[in-house]
Amino acid sequence: MSSTLRQRKRFTSIALPTAVLLVVGGAAAIQSVGPAAAAETTLRAAAANAGLFFGVAASPGRLSSIVAQEFNQLTPENDMKPATIATSSGGLQNTGNADTLVNYAQTNNMLVRGHTLVWHSQAGSLQGANQATLNTFIGNAINRWGNRIAYWDVVNEALDDNNTGNRRTQWPHTLNRDANGDGDFFDSGDTDVIRDSFIRAKQVVQAGGFSTKLCINDYDVEGLTVRGGTPNRKANALYDIVRTYRQYIDCVGFQAHFNDNPNSIISDDLQANIQRFADLGVEVHITELDIDDDLSNNDIGTGQAENYRKVVRACLNVSRCTGITVWGIADSESWRSSERGLLFTGSSGNYQKKAAYTAVLEELNRGRGGPTSSPTVSPSVSPSVSPSVSPSVSPSVSPSVSPSVSPSVSPNPNPGCSASVSLNAWTGGFVATVRVTAGSAPINGWNVRLTLPSGATVTNAWNANRSGNTGAVQFTNVSYNGRVNAGQSTEFGFQGTGTATGLSPVCTAS
Ligand code: XIL
Repeated sequence: MSSTLRQRKRFTSIALPTAVLLVVGGAAAIQSVGPAAAAETTLRAAAANAGLFFGVAASPGRLSSIVAQEFNQLTPENDMKPATIATSSGGLQNTGNADTLVNYAQTNNMLVRGHTLVWHSQAGSLQGANQATLNTFIGNAINRWGNRIAYWDVVNEALDDNNTGNRRTQWPHTLNRDANGDGDFFDSGDTDVIRDSFIRAKQVVQAGGFSTKLCINDYDVEGLTVRGGTPNRKANALYDIVRTYRQYIDCVGFQAHFNDNPNSIISDDLQANIQRFADLGVEVHITELDIDDDLSNNDIGTGQAENYRKVVRACLNVSRCTGITVWGIADSESWRSSERGLLFTGSSGNYQKKAAYTAVLEELNRGRGGPTSSPTVSPSVSPSVSPSVSPSVSPSVSPSVSPSVSPSVSPNPNPGCSASVSLNAWTGGFVATVRVTAGSAPINGWNVRLTLPSGATVTNAWNANRSGNTGAVQFTNVSYNGRVNAGQSTEFGFQGTGTATGLSPVCTAS
């Protein structure tokens, strides 16, 4: 078993209380041990039982005891940004505060998210740098902390505001070049700062033998739709980027700064959106959570505590949603203090829990569940990069994707197992997630057959062996997901072009 797989197995241990944080090859992983017990009383313990981290953004001046008590992941709020640590030639400077935070995290068994390497904002003297200089900085930063950083936000906020679905136009995106003018930067002749920065980061991680995972992070990408049911084009654009550059991208961060902006609301399809990214095989994180509590103008839900509950539940219900981070401890110390968006009141180490805190703790203590969680161990997906990395080109998707989710359940002719399919569809393409559920006895293997409508073609599949790509196609288990206990489920997925409505998967157990 690869060390990554071992790490993943530990990370996804089934919920058992008394959580501990392990250090695996220098990087930490959350594990649960011990017999079933009463509900946990801290966010970090409750989260660890459910197999995810619960973190906070902090700076050295805010490291009061509550940080290590309540949280098992830490993101430097400002101290790892290029404005602080980068020189104009891509070297490192002023790393003292970042070191303080990393050391604190390590002492207190907390994961660290490095934030951030390539960003149009807070770029300091790196502002305007070319790709070569960005690459130098990426190498220096990743190598400095190595495995002490579990996740790096390699690219932050690459996409434009106002739900255009376009890349930003300011630096570093001025480095982009759309060679054939087809409106994207995915083609082999194109230049793409996202792709090139991830390729560099992946090379550095592999050369160093680090387990650090590489993430892309953005805001207003949380739901499939924005206010009024309009498709979330920014989320769709992010999805296309992750799918296209999947071999370099390990994780996706939804910032989740929820407020009254029509594109920043908590929509009912948050979970479905998390799920479609998870179905690409990446981890999904809620990275900068705060929820506006402006009740005089609160059109985002039923009150802050319930909104927090909703977001935490959406993550818990997707097994590859592996962490939630709040963007600060207390309202008064938040970057958006007027929104009172966090879990505590008070200040300077003297903090009081809000109703939102209690809601989050309760929800974490309920653990995973719901329609999309799986008790089986997810495979570790750690893409490798060949030394001569070339841009990956995948079939392009129309920029105005409008996903829809339409579950369908097949009849079950075989008592051994059943299969159901959920579809995320957009104009010209789809991702299908198939859930295989064992009957009243355990099974050791499965086979799922389905017939695609004409015009639909499978382009890739994960967590299954596939034969055929049009018409009648068949999927069988891979080595790690054939064994399914009675009544339990496992999932595989496939992606395709065309339309795939009305699928009726038929499962046969072996
Ligand atoms: C914010 C910090 O919280 C503030 O202290 C700072 O003044 C500006 O940046 N998206 C991000 C974070 O990725 O880095 C930002 O953090 C908030 C929005």
